[in-house]
Amino acid sequence: MTDKKENMLEKITSLAKRRGFVFPSSEIYGGMQAIYDYGHYGTLLKNNIRDAWWKHMVQCRDDVVGLDSAIFMHPTTWVASGHVGGFNDPQVDCRKCKSRFRADHILEEFGISADKAPLEELNAHLDKLREEGKLKCANCGSTDLTPAKIFSLMVKSNIGSPTDELKEENVVYLRPETCGGIYLEYKNTIDSLHIKLPFGIAQVGKAFRNEIVARQFIFRTREFEQMEMQYFLHPDIMKEKYDMWKDTRWKWYLEYGMKKEELRWYKHEKLAHYASEAYDVEYNFKTLGGFKEVEGIHARGDWDLSQHSKYSGVDLSYFDEKTGEKFTPHIMETSVGLNRLVLMFIDHSYVEEEVNGETRVVLKFDKRLAPVKVAILPLSKKEELTKPAREIYEKLRQLFMVEYDETQSIGKRYRRQDEIGTPYCVTVDFETLNDKAVTVRDRDTMKQERIAIDKLEEYLKGKLV
Ligand code: GAP
Repeated sequence: MTDKKENMLEKITSLAKRRGFVFPSSEIYGGMQAIYDYGHYGTLLKNNIRDAWWKHMVQCRDDVVGLDSAIFMHPTTWVASGHVGGFNDPQVDCRKCKSRFRADHILEEFGISADKAPLEELNAHLDKLREEGKLKCANCGSTDLTPAKIFSLMVKSNIGSPTDELKEENVVYLRPETCGGIYLEYKNTIDSLHIKLPFGIAQVGKAFRNEIVARQFIFRTREFEQMEMQYFLHPDIMKEKYDMWKDTRWKWYLEYGMKKEELRWYKHEKLAHYASEAYDVEYNFKTLGGFKEVEGIHARGDWDLSQHSKYSGVDLSYFDEKTGEKFTPHIMETSVGLNRLVLMFIDHSYVEEEVNGETRVVLKFDKRLAPVKVAILPLSKKEELTKPAREIYEKLRQLFMVEYDETQSIGKRYRRQDEIGTPYCVTVDFETLNDKAVTVRDRDTMKQERIAIDKLEEYLKGKLV
């Protein structure tokens, strides 16, 4: 890792913990690798991103409906989808310190692109680096690394009697992606909503993968949330709808404050055998030192419904009443990691500014995504100020996520609100008692405006809604 990237990752990981966004999970027991918990502000931010996605994907569309399917699914689901046999990563171990790496990620560090390459190809590249003396453990520097071998990403569990052993016949898998539930509920959705093609089903939920992880904070974790939408259509309109979704999703990022220069499309050249097109939206992470995938947009053909139809024996074909044609719908997917978006929005919003010779750290989130919208700060703990401040707080919290804070100096309180990205701070001072007005400070410009208390609600609604 370069110093700059290491520095940014450290700054953001430490801010996230200090300010209650993200904590390493089970920390008092020594933690668990690549598993994280979300604190108060992290949960609020994550929920706001989720809601912004849902609004765009479901609420504001006529052709997409929602779903919340179970994490546990019939084990055959993952045999039919090909995950049990083929959802693997190539793993390399350090024999000295026991660190574990992904072979394709090691090669990436040398500028060799080997995503989804067969094992023989990966090992040929690794052997060459070994011969040249370049292959070293990123953790301890040892040259004693194993060849790449296949490692299943599927997380096993068992369900049923607690005394049952985890025998092969008892194994169920924690879903590795949320779309499996969408395919299995495709028929119930059509039968219950009488919806016509083309249409999409969207859902947000947890997914689990036994990832071989590098130090990437919440970018790649073993438990994470996906926001996926599967769009069912006739193959003749795949190209048109694919382009439409690509365009729609791109605009969503720009709408929530991302800059065009920070994003790019990555076209997959090596596609799964059933896929006809796959692009990723990539964001240039300061914390990870370059462009990385945040969302995938995939044209998946009729593979999913055909496979589930074959393995379940249930006909999942669609009859078009207008044309009289019966066919298996093809699927266009948009799939994005919610936790990855949390990192993307923090990474994008993180700004350090010089103010009066001091460094001000601000998270300049889009206001709709900011965890807290308004902070109410009385300038003294005297009741004559805390009473009206609390009254304002009680009123505004019915409308927005609002915080009340009467501790510490005003400078420290502003600093804390800047670091969690609160767009507006409202101070109640002794002048308030005379002019029945408060001072509203804008997070980004730090400009202050005097607003009458009875106009405050309207003023903030105008800024925030
Ligand atoms: N259904 C398609 C699918 O799951 P994917 O490229 O494996 O495709 C889609 O995952 C998105 O899910 C990725 O772009 C990423 O944002 C997120 N994602 C995947 N694995 C992840 C992990 N281990 N941790 C966090 N996010 C992950």
